[in-house]
Amino acid sequence: MRSNRPIPTPDRPNFYGRRGTRPLKPSRKALVDEMLPNIRIDYPETGNVDPAGYFSVRPQQMWLEIGFGGGEHLAGQAEAHPDVGFIGCEPFMDGVGSLLRHIDERGLVNVRVVPDDSRPLLYKLADACFDRAFLLFPDPWPKTRHAERRFIGPKNLALMARLLKDGAEFRVASDDMQYISWTLQHLHNHPNFEWLADTAGDWRNPPSDWIKTRYEQKALRQGKKCSYLRFRRRARIEG
Ligand SMILES: C[S@@+](CC[C@H](N)C(=O)[O-])C[C@H]1O[C@@H](n2cnc3c(N)ncnc32)[C@H](O)[C@@H]1O
Repeated sequence: MRSNRPIPTPDRPNFYGRRGTRPLKPSRKALVDEMLPNIRIDYPETGNVDPAGYFSVRPQQMWLEIGFGGGEHLAGQAEAHPDVGFIGCEPFMDGVGSLLRHIDERGLVNVRVVPDDSRPLLYKLADACFDRAFLLFPDPWPKTRHAERRFIGPKNLALMARLLKDGAEFRVASDDMQYISWTLQHLHNHPNFEWLADTAGDWRNPPSDWIKTRYEQKALRQGKKCSYLRFRRRARIEG
């Protein structure tokens, strides 16, 4: 069968996840039509873009959430940190509609949204532009032959290492032990990241400022165990 995927390019790789095929509920559609144009980020044509420039008042810090799902965590963090500028990326339009509802209900002005694959934006952003990044319950792609589709991998880690400031935190959570060991395998001995685990059981407990995601709540209801990994971007070596 012929695929109608666009031909991938280095900064527009193939995206294998879902974008949503059902029509949005009328209330969500109204938010998408009315609110999204004011806060959406389109892929830039040129590189070295400063993401703080997407806000009318320059935020004190910039945080990124890749694959925000229903946006519960992103909206909660944005409400708790009004001085931080948040960029959230999510290709699944139902999720985008859900985030917009949270933004609307809480009157948030510090969130910008990429309603699509994060990577074509991330490739165009300037070095060391984020103070924190979240990848929460990423699609696990459990089959070995799909391993290249997992967000965690050498290419995206090089991208994250480029975008994170020295000392910036990168949080990854999952209920999938295979994905957690895959992540540790790639990040634990990575030259640009160090694992922030104080005690052996650290990764079983969320950080104190944690806000549960929708996917996490469902996993916990089903009796699954979730793991929470925090990494620090090591300082760049001058020269
Ligand atoms: C399992 S869901 C988890 C959603 C949310 N983080 C949560 O915990 O409820 C993974 C999400 O990542 C999104 N996603 C997958 N690849 C992505 C990419 N390259 N950029 C942005 N989002 C992506 C998917 O659309 C999906 O909504």
